[in-house]
Amino acid sequence: MGERLRDKVAIVTGASRGIGAAIAANMAQEGAKVVLVSRKIEGLQTVAAEIRGNGGEATPLACHVGHPDQREDMLDQALNAYGRVDILVNNAATNPHFGPMLSIDGGAWDKTFEVNVKGYFGMIRLVAGHLQERKAKGSIVNIASVAGLMAAPMQGVYGMTKAAVISMTKTLAMELGASGIRVNAIAPGLVETKFAQVLVDNDEIRSNIVNRTAAGRVGQPRDIAGGAVFLASDESDYLTGDVMVIDGGWTLG
Ligand SMILES: NC(=O)c1ccc[n+]([C@@H]2O[C@H](COP(=O)([O-])OP(=O)(O)OC[C@H]3O[C@@H](n4cnc5c(N)ncnc54)[C@H](OP(=O)(O)O)[C@@H]3O)[C@@H](O)[C@H]2O)c1
Repeated sequence: MGERLRDKVAIVTGASRGIGAAIAANMAQEGAKVVLVSRKIEGLQTVAAEIRGNGGEATPLACHVGHPDQREDMLDQALNAYGRVDILVNNAATNPHFGPMLSIDGGAWDKTFEVNVKGYFGMIRLVAGHLQERKAKGSIVNIASVAGLMAAPMQGVYGMTKAAVISMTKTLAMELGASGIRVNAIAPGLVETKFAQVLVDNDEIRSNIVNRTAAGRVGQPRDIAGGAVFLASDESDYLTGDVMVIDGGWTLG
């Protein structure tokens, strides 16, 4: 066990699989007590058991991050479990539409913004309010995407929400800096998860992406987790408003 997050309490949303599960496991390995959040409790319980099996501490809590009442209940339960929260990783996001931007229907548009923008913002408002009440320092890590930095054909509205996350990160980093709350983002490139299955399983799309990636491969969830631990830890105490691009060099051109 490492000690880079010793005694810290972290909420990680979307922690039942993929990037969120890897971040939660790494944070627990570094000594954080981790609150695991997603809609379905079963996957969270499996991740919690793995973390505990490795000597870590984790509490699974079911919550749809797009629903304000569920967010509030979840924070109350996290505070009941651990007494405080120091770190928030906003990672749970959705992309219900894969196709040309103008072909998206109203329901998919609303759902994408409800989870990816209102969900992230609502979580930050709750956790920042808690930190300010305690007069405590804190770190917020927003998982954005390279789709928020570049054109995102076939994922256009999702890309808009990720651009909004980057904008939210920069403004809140300025507005919360005086309170000692840092806000940073990570923009992953393609990472092999259930979320990205439609891209990873398509041979043509996958090889186009790999050919353009300096690292010559698709990313894995563990490739993102180290960056999140760094941004959450005191090692990055003078870093705020940053967008850490972890894409194997895909955005280099
Ligand atoms: N994979 C990539 O290539 C890639 C690239 C760039 C950025 N990202 C970003 O990385 C993050 C994680 O993606 P991933 O690839 O790890 O996805 P994933 O494997 O599909 O995992 C998504 C997680 O989010 C949870 N979730 C989904 N909707 C939720 C909601 N409304 N409320 C609470 N939890 C919810 C899911 O659990 P439940 O089903 O139990 O809710 C699951 O734990 C996202 O922000 C995504 O935009 C991914």
